[in-house]
Amino acid sequence: MAKRGSLWVLNGPNLNLLGEREPGIYGGDSLADIEKLCAEAAETAGFDLTFRQTNHEGEMVAWIQDARTEASGVAINAGAYTHTSVAVHDALRLLDIPIVEVHLSNIFAREEFRHKSYVSAAATGVVCGFGTHSYILAITALAARMDL
Ligand code: DQA
Repeated sequence: MAKRGSLWVLNGPNLNLLGEREPGIYGGDSLADIEKLCAEAAETAGFDLTFRQTNHEGEMVAWIQDARTEASGVAINAGAYTHTSVAVHDALRLLDIPIVEVHLSNIFAREEFRHKSYVSAAATGVVCGFGTHSYILAITALAARMDL
């Protein structure tokens, strides 16, 4: 079957340590486990998947810029940059494709400084609080959006 396009899942700082990092908050799955589940979900929905992680804000901005011409939809867990990065916000605003903000944890049930997101205002929608399943929900939402 011909693919419907390419979904990009972009991950920010410290998410490379999922599985080891505060498992009581983020769960026991590694980022590689999450990538595998995302690949299955994208395949089922008929999309190619690009899955990346960076600990560098500039690299994240560059990838978002690349997504302008190479992606059909973006799911982004910007990690701590969610709460700090106007640069990530501005880059996302350049995109003319669906964007889903993803978080493993429910950022609104956590510390006050996590309640502010620079990603939300540039996103089509937000999924948070469902652990690894947040990513699957994001991919499903992107695929559904493409059907509209
Ligand atoms: C996170 C929530 C952020 O507040 C935090 O900085 C992260 C992970 C999440 O997936 O729950 O790194 O984005």
